[in-house]
Amino acid sequence: MRGMDVNPIDYRPQLPDRRDYGIGLVGCGGIANGAHLPAYRTCGYRVVACCDVRPEAAESTAQKFGIPKWTADLDEVLSDPDVQIVDLAVHASQRRPLVERIAAAGKHILSQKPFAMHWADAQRMVEVCEAAGVTLMVNQQARWAPQHRVLKLLLERGTVGHLYSVLHVLRSCQDVAGSWIVALEHFNIIDHGIHYIDLTRYFTGLTPQRVKATTTIVPGQHAVTPMIYSITCEYDADVMATLHFNNIIRASGLHGNTWYLDGTDGSIMATHSTVEICLKDSPGERQVIQVQGSWFPEAFGGSMGELMQALTEGRPPQTSGRDNLQSIKIAYGAVESSQTGKAVELT
Ligand SMILES: NC(=O)c1ccc[n+]([C@@H]2O[C@H](COP(=O)([O-])OP(=O)(O)OC[C@H]3O[C@@H](n4cnc5c(N)ncnc54)[C@H](O)[C@@H]3O)[C@@H](O)[C@H]2O)c1
Repeated sequence: MRGMDVNPIDYRPQLPDRRDYGIGLVGCGGIANGAHLPAYRTCGYRVVACCDVRPEAAESTAQKFGIPKWTADLDEVLSDPDVQIVDLAVHASQRRPLVERIAAAGKHILSQKPFAMHWADAQRMVEVCEAAGVTLMVNQQARWAPQHRVLKLLLERGTVGHLYSVLHVLRSCQDVAGSWIVALEHFNIIDHGIHYIDLTRYFTGLTPQRVKATTTIVPGQHAVTPMIYSITCEYDADVMATLHFNNIIRASGLHGNTWYLDGTDGSIMATHSTVEICLKDSPGERQVIQVQGSWFPEAFGGSMGELMQALTEGRPPQTSGRDNLQSIKIAYGAVESSQTGKAVELT
């Protein structure tokens, strides 16, 4: 069947040509320990220093991953000539002053998502890095997750013809009392949902003209803002996207994560581990691809690898700070639409 012979070598993240860049990790919390550093260890990347305002976090991270230097003082990382890339794994609200200092020190930056909670901060960080001549990439690492790379590969090959519909349905529960998640305003759209918003740009290759969103508060929820959204993206092209994320489903037995990509010649349905393809010319046949590898932590090696490759080739990385302005603009528009009940124009 057309374009459906998919080899893992085609979709699993490839190592960059040069991987000896010195990495300074700033922010030694959950995601750095749980995903960044395990992936970098597998890829053989060189983490030369780690830093956290909580010295005990920096020390324990250094011990766990064999990082030669740890500190609670950012200036020690910024003055280290062995650090070329700062891997910034702090929360968005802490990001802007750190990016300004890192850019002034001439270090390249891989920033965790969400890039910023406010447009002015995002724009300022992009401008500061461009003025300083440093490369800024946002870690939208879901683009390097094997299951998403399979989908992109199939779309690029034209397997399902013209893509006219993207539907994402995610059912989960992160409404955990006492966590930073429930205290963060608009977490579900701006912080977690940004992955699926950005992936929709990745799959369609387009940025929508306008966005509409609906949310609701659920009785008894812990989160300060809604944990369920429906977002509709409208384009100046023959395609539409619908993203539905219910992140407050207590009945975990019915959790799940599914993409449906419909094209004029066929359809694709994908979960974390399986991609199914059905073409209009042979509707009785269903090709099933069992995806090798997983988003956590493999995709984190892919995104850092993309930054290294971009530096080596002297080009902007795929998810540069400037590129990411388009993704976060959709997220901010969705929040605004959910509050006003009106569609938000994005141009
Ligand atoms: N798949 C993903 O991409 C993914 C998954 C989870 C979290 N995240 C993102 O990663 C970021 C961090 O999340 P987390 O769960 O690791 O949070 P966390 O609270 O566990 O870790 C953040 C760390 O940053 C440190 N920190 C704060 N200010 C600092 C400063 N000025 N200098 C140095 N260190 C500082 C804190 O002490 C803490 O250890 C968030 O933006 C979150 O959205 C991304």
